[in-house]
Amino acid sequence: MRHQIAAANWKMNLTYKQGKILLDEIMNKQIALEPHKKAIFAVPFPYLRMAKKKIKDRENYSIAAQNCHHLKSGAYTGEVSAEMIKSVGVGFVIIGHSERRQYFNETDALLSEKVNIAIDHHLTPIFCCGESLPIRESGKENEFVAGQLKNSLFHLPAEQIQKIVVAYEPIWAIGTGKTASSQQAQDMHAWLRSVIAKQYGQPVADTISILYGGSVKGSNAVEIFSQPDVDGGLVGGASLNGEEFAAIIRALK
Ligand code: 13P
Repeated sequence: MRHQIAAANWKMNLTYKQGKILLDEIMNKQIALEPHKKAIFAVPFPYLRMAKKKIKDRENYSIAAQNCHHLKSGAYTGEVSAEMIKSVGVGFVIIGHSERRQYFNETDALLSEKVNIAIDHHLTPIFCCGESLPIRESGKENEFVAGQLKNSLFHLPAEQIQKIVVAYEPIWAIGTGKTASSQQAQDMHAWLRSVIAKQYGQPVADTISILYGGSVKGSNAVEIFSQPDVDGGLVGGASLNGEEFAAIIRALK
């Protein structure tokens, strides 16, 4: 089954207390999620346990980490492993966000190792891809984003690629208030699904959730999520506001 997913990415925002208040606000809205829907909160590492407690065992609510190291364990001061994330009861991890690619020099090759270690520890990767403005303006966005998937995911066997959630986040739409149009999102999502289908077959491609990220808000989520190949969103700024993120969860189809 292909899930429709509203994923909050808090990035490096909110204090512990602010995070607790925000989660309480959203969970108190008691938004019931049918089995094909999920709400996920990607919170900073020190808040994972607290966030896990806040969602309790509410059906189809989950917690994600925002990153993990690519190796199992060892002398890597300040790093957090996939095994550690799993050991606190967390089920998802964002891998390859454009901010990590840009500011922490994460390459496609490194990200393929992160995907592997996450899967080895039964974490579901939310794998991010997306092009910069110059790439879009040069008309090469399709081959660029397909290349990101091929380089970091296509070594996986079919039963493992089905465990990945893909998030398409055009860099020019992140934090800029400028969303891709719902047609631009649909075009890229359909293209990426066709690239996956070519490698793994249509039935596999049809099971993979592809989220859109980039200035999603309560007011545009219904329109963007209504596109047939858009299976929800990965949300930064608007996920820091309870009313906004609740509206985004409610916009899932
Ligand atoms: P914004 O929703 O703030 O544009 O951020 C998108 C994003 O990067 C989510 O991972």
